Amino acid sequence: MMAQLPKAVDPAIVPKRTLANGAQIPVMGLGTFGSDHVSGEQIAAAVLDAARIGYRQFDCAAVYGNEAFIGEALQSIWNGLAPREDFWITSKLWNDKHAAKDVASSCKQSLRDLRIEYLDLYLVHWPFPNFHPPGCDVDSRSPDARGYIHAEFMETWGAMEQLVEQGLVRHIGTSNMTIPKLELLLQDAQVRPACNEMELHPHFQQPEFLSYLLGNQIQPIGFCPLGSPGRPERDRTPSDTSPLDDPVVRAIADEHEVHAAEVCLKWAVQRGEVVIPFSVNPHNYAANLRAVVEDPLTPEDMKKIAAADRRCRLIKGQVFLWKENQSWHDLWDENGVITPA
Ligand SMILES: NC(=O)c1ccc[n+]([C@@H]2O[C@H](COP(=O)([O-])OP(=O)(O)OC[C@H]3O[C@@H](n4cnc5c(N)ncnc54)[C@H](OP(=O)(O)O)[C@@H]3O)[C@@H](O)[C@H]2O)c1
Repeated sequence: MMAQLPKAVDPAIVPKRTLANGAQIPVMGLGTFGSDHVSGEQIAAAVLDAARIGYRQFDCAAVYGNEAFIGEALQSIWNGLAPREDFWITSKLWNDKHAAKDVASSCKQSLRDLRIEYLDLYLVHWPFPNFHPPGCDVDSRSPDARGYIHAEFMETWGAMEQLVEQGLVRHIGTSNMTIPKLELLLQDAQVRPACNEMELHPHFQQPEFLSYLLGNQIQPIGFCPLGSPGRPERDRTPSDTSPLDDPVVRAIADEHEVHAAEVCLKWAVQRGEVVIPFSVNPHNYAANLRAVVEDPLTPEDMKKIAAADRRCRLIKGQVFLWKENQSWHDLWDENGVITPA
């Protein structure tokens, strides 16, 4: 017998963000990266039950290695629960598929695996063509790794634009970008990025980048919105901090009588983000969805969390470095200039 699910939220009351072209994306989606330890079957089960609970957005990627499992869940959703057009499905082009000739075939593989005819959003997962195998450790480097080369990125982007023309994807976007890289892209793109996916949580708030995106009508999608407590070993360093353990977040959670995770999500949505927390625990993913439809944070709460920023990037991306003795800071153009390739 099917276990009883927590109470559903009516998807119609989940707020949406309107994108530059008028399309609407739900503010809450379910992340599907199992951090190398949650199986595709478990994640597919969460996708199906999350849809039953009211989720209408799923954040997928080819490199997560589970799109075929999720495709089965999506099929079950269309076969009885709700039609395809009620959902927002995102996938991502992996780093070893940046060559223009590989972009369409990668997208079509994701469509086949997910058993859908179009994606709502297709992201370039990282702005570097540097491959790393699933489950690798922090010292893994691809032998032909290189830094950001704008002309190469524009070839990839041109092929992404064609996917829109062909009706395979509704929107295209970026992920793990920086302002200087986006400046170049905005100069040269025929089709502008609709969204940019990036790490955002109370300990890594990136306020300037968030304002830049909102000002340019690019929707920020915040990943690791809870500080990714289950992230792989390669993404952990001793100086990392956790927004779920932050005393300010915890005090606000106590006042609202909710878990710290819910405070992180309310805060993110109230500052203009779309969020995609991962969970395979029905109690948690139901609570996360409810968090964005009830009991908002006060302006005072928002101010207190703004002051709790630790500028602590958790997903540093070391495996994408391209030279000996480089620091992960080189991936993020921290002084406003693209690090030379
Ligand atoms: N574009 C990119 O490069 C990129 C990078 C990283 C992540 N992402 C996307 O962003 C998604 C989210 O990031 P993430 O998975 O790293 O981290 P996250 O969403 O910050 O954290 C997920 C963890 O939090 C726990 N959790 C969820 N809800 C909770 C609640 N209400 N109370 C307590 N614990 C809770 C989950 O455990 P339970 O399962 O036990 O609930 C899971 O271990 C990914 O799944 C992926 O789709 C994208």
